[in-house]
Amino acid sequence: MSVNYPRHVAIIMDGNGRWAKARKLPRALGHKAGGDAVRKAVQAAEVLGLECLTLYAFSSENWKREEEEISDLMNLMRRFIEANLQDMIERRVRLKIIGDYKAFAPDIVAKLEDALERTSGGERTLAVALNYGAQQEIIRAAGLAAEEGAVTAERIEKHLYTADLPPLDLLIRTSGEVRLSNFLLWQSAYAEMLFLDVLWPDFDEGHLRAACEEFAKRERRYGGR
Ligand code: FPP
Repeated sequence: MSVNYPRHVAIIMDGNGRWAKARKLPRALGHKAGGDAVRKAVQAAEVLGLECLTLYAFSSENWKREEEEISDLMNLMRRFIEANLQDMIERRVRLKIIGDYKAFAPDIVAKLEDALERTSGGERTLAVALNYGAQQEIIRAAGLAAEEGAVTAERIEKHLYTADLPPLDLLIRTSGEVRLSNFLLWQSAYAEMLFLDVLWPDFDEGHLRAACEEFAKRERRYGGR
């Protein structure tokens, strides 16, 4: 790992639908290819020495999609856990979930909780955002902070889902869209951002390495000079 590489990278995985459309394939196959890219990204994060990779898999707004697409994404999630849990345990990757995942189907909640427990000894973290919305996260954290007294940044941070993760260094969005879509709004306050013209299923180790190199070149001043 290079000295100035980020410790914590988050990715808005966008473009599965366009990837499928370009190949005249159903959207479901775009998401499936997206799932394969997730597996590759987790391995790449290990090669590059990242402490934490946070992925936006399902936003609190994604419930607005067609029922069939939601069901495809849920099935993909089931299969992803089944196919990757053992590998995560062996690679010492700790799964963390950010978001209100308990709104998912009971069998998915059970699978996720089993995976959380069985990977809890891992030393690197894969944080997956499920039914996640940053505004909702901040409101929840501010409410809990208020119960403790004056609302301060420190108190809010303590109640964010990401409280136990290293500070967010780099936020990447694929597919050429340039917006945050309610992802990690608080945590992005001082994060570097990269918007890449690659569709998520095509994202690979080379892209992640180039992003880390770009991060290493940027000078971060946190508001100072
Ligand atoms: C954006 O593509 C992607 C999503 C809404 C879902 C992200 C999910 C995965 C990559 C796979 C599942 C992940 C795990 C952890 C199993 P889009 O459908 O918005 O693409 P478009 O903008 O081109 O239509």
